[in-house]
Amino acid sequence: MTLTRRTFLGAAAAASCAAALPAIAAKPLTIGFSQVGAESEWRTANTASIKDATRRAGINLKFADAQQQQQNQVKAIRSFIAQRVDIIAFSPVVETGWETVLREAKNAKIPVILTDRAVKVSDPSLYVSFIGSDFVEEGRRAGKWLLDYAKKNGDKPLNIVELQGTTGAAPANDRKKGFAEAIASNPKLKIIRSQTGDFTRAKGKEVMEAFLKSEGKHINVLYAHNDDMAIGAIQAIEEAGLKPGKDIVIVSIDGVRGAFEAMKAGKLNVTIECNPLLGPILVQTAQEVAAGKPVSKRITVNEGVFPAEVAAKELPNRRY
Ligand code: AHR
Repeated sequence: MTLTRRTFLGAAAAASCAAALPAIAAKPLTIGFSQVGAESEWRTANTASIKDATRRAGINLKFADAQQQQQNQVKAIRSFIAQRVDIIAFSPVVETGWETVLREAKNAKIPVILTDRAVKVSDPSLYVSFIGSDFVEEGRRAGKWLLDYAKKNGDKPLNIVELQGTTGAAPANDRKKGFAEAIASNPKLKIIRSQTGDFTRAKGKEVMEAFLKSEGKHINVLYAHNDDMAIGAIQAIEEAGLKPGKDIVIVSIDGVRGAFEAMKAGKLNVTIECNPLLGPILVQTAQEVAAGKPVSKRITVNEGVFPAEVAAKELPNRRY
């Protein structure tokens, strides 16, 4: 796929009035982007980054919100194929079930770029590049932080409840895996309950209420796969008369502004950063693909770990 340039004038006419009118004008690149939804503060920042970067680059963006439904994404991708967009980009809500539609895009010779979340496909040529975080590493970082915390706090047994992300989503699968792997070295750290909160505040609160009802004061730690679920759970913990961040230690992932505010207020203990500002890298990759240049199959982003102690200092620097 190359950037095409449309001729506006015939050769003779162009020669006679070349000074007055440009002979050719670049045809803007069209990207069809299927977003997961608007389930979290992270997602809002991700959408804003993609819209902003494409607008600045003069790219014609066709944006579709899938409302966390895979079938909506499949429909959107088929519609992008029918519209003959130059590139399809999407953040897949779940990891599996993409072979058929990705093959349709390949047969139509439309390159596909994955952003944020990966897919499991038997044929890796079904997409050209995957831009996003290493979610297993994020889970490991969360687990390592808890290992250190346990060590510094008398190495007592700690009962952990886990709020998982959307069932079947790459960040839910990988963050669970990385965390379990990291805490495995300390048998005193036990996950006693684990359930999906679908990456939303409302679900995070609802599931935490259920955990508190069944486990009560046995809960020492909450591990949430994203900040929004942690923020919802904080509300549930407070409504149960407990102190989040103290009675229950809270570890979560994303590093959104809401998490920094919660840490500043002493209600959250650490957030592991997951960078949503993928717009500029998507634009650059799409332009390279359109120009026929080779691109990396896997592009990762730099991320940090932010414990509560640095929240007040870091909050003014946060961009999302
Ligand atoms: O895929 C990234 C995850 O999806 C973010 O951690 C979460 O907040 C979002 O909804």
